[in-house]
Amino acid sequence: MTGASVLVTGGAGFVGAHVCRALAGAGFVPVAYDDLSAGHREFAKWGPFVRAKIEDAAALDAAIAAHGVVACVHLAGSIEVGLSVREPVRFWQNNVSGTLVLLDRLRAAKVGAFVFSSTAAVYGEPETVPMAESHPKRPTNPYGETKLAVEAVLAAEARSRGLAWIAFRYFNAAGSAWADGIGEDHSPESHLIPLACQAAMGTRPPLTIFGDDYPTPDGTALRDYIHVVDLGAAHVLGIRRALAGRIGAPFNLGTGTGYSVRQVVDTVGRIAGRPVPHSFGARRAGDSPALVADPSSAMRELGWQPKSSALDTIVADAWAWHSRRHTPKA
Ligand SMILES: NC(=O)c1ccc[n+]([C@@H]2O[C@H](COP(=O)([O-])OP(=O)(O)OC[C@H]3O[C@@H](n4cnc5c(N)ncnc54)[C@H](O)[C@@H]3O)[C@@H](O)[C@H]2O)c1
Repeated sequence: MTGASVLVTGGAGFVGAHVCRALAGAGFVPVAYDDLSAGHREFAKWGPFVRAKIEDAAALDAAIAAHGVVACVHLAGSIEVGLSVREPVRFWQNNVSGTLVLLDRLRAAKVGAFVFSSTAAVYGEPETVPMAESHPKRPTNPYGETKLAVEAVLAAEARSRGLAWIAFRYFNAAGSAWADGIGEDHSPESHLIPLACQAAMGTRPPLTIFGDDYPTPDGTALRDYIHVVDLGAAHVLGIRRALAGRIGAPFNLGTGTGYSVRQVVDTVGRIAGRPVPHSFGARRAGDSPALVADPSSAMRELGWQPKSSALDTIVADAWAWHSRRHTPKA
């Protein structure tokens, strides 16, 4: 169903802009819907842009009607884990109350296809590595709790009105489509690869690596990095599946390979052509030694394959973005 309008909440954010790019490339019309609380107006260039909040029912009704929306990718939300611990009410308001308003207005408009940005944080402490979707869900912070709560609402909407949904549990999104002018720019930034790139550029203080005594090959924590362009491609497959009326499921989006913090930092240094200034600190409470996806069900059921997620490619695209943009933020 190409040419169809897809409401993309958070479409001016890091992942949302790449999802809009992928949808536009597949012939959809992405309607970026974003309040710009953390997004970038210049990222929303793949279709119409609506500046509004997801909790604004009238603005949602107007956008859905004006653009003839038939499906929704929902990425808008608060993302910083530390903030979720400090301000849980604000997190629940934005990530859960806001999503309830969105789902209510989509229901009213009879929009029946929905793709949701969930997270590996729904699992909590890994009991097995890699983690399949069936792994126990015991989030260790309000961020993961809000995402799991939304997954439960989606399952209930499916039972109640046949909503066709997918929750994509991203592992660590990274990389950029820098040649198209979009990339990672969070403020504050909490993700390793941008922090390492900016430390190498000298636009941010030396990186602190938290923990070098984990039970991993080099003592630093292992994470599963997925190129944001591969995430974009998965969302196109997800929207097609939901538009075909397939009732919901969660899918992990990762590669199944874990890289250590030290490997990532070394890779940034090699690609940047200069070392990443860094020091080691104590482990952070709540950080797991290893978070690695079992992505086999997305591969099998959606026909998705990460094509750009070799660590060198992710880091080269992140470095290209940061070194060209060169706009350090707090
Ligand atoms: N970046 C990652 O590694 C990662 C990993 C797992 C899950 N996710 C999820 O993916 C989604 C996108 O993450 P991101 O890294 O692109 O973050 P981001 O902050 O760049 O994007 C979020 C966007 O949502 C907008 N927004 C926030 N609250 C809003 C509201 N109430 N109404 C309208 N717009 C609002 C912001 O302005 C921003 O543009 C989030 O839901 C996040 O939880 C991201």
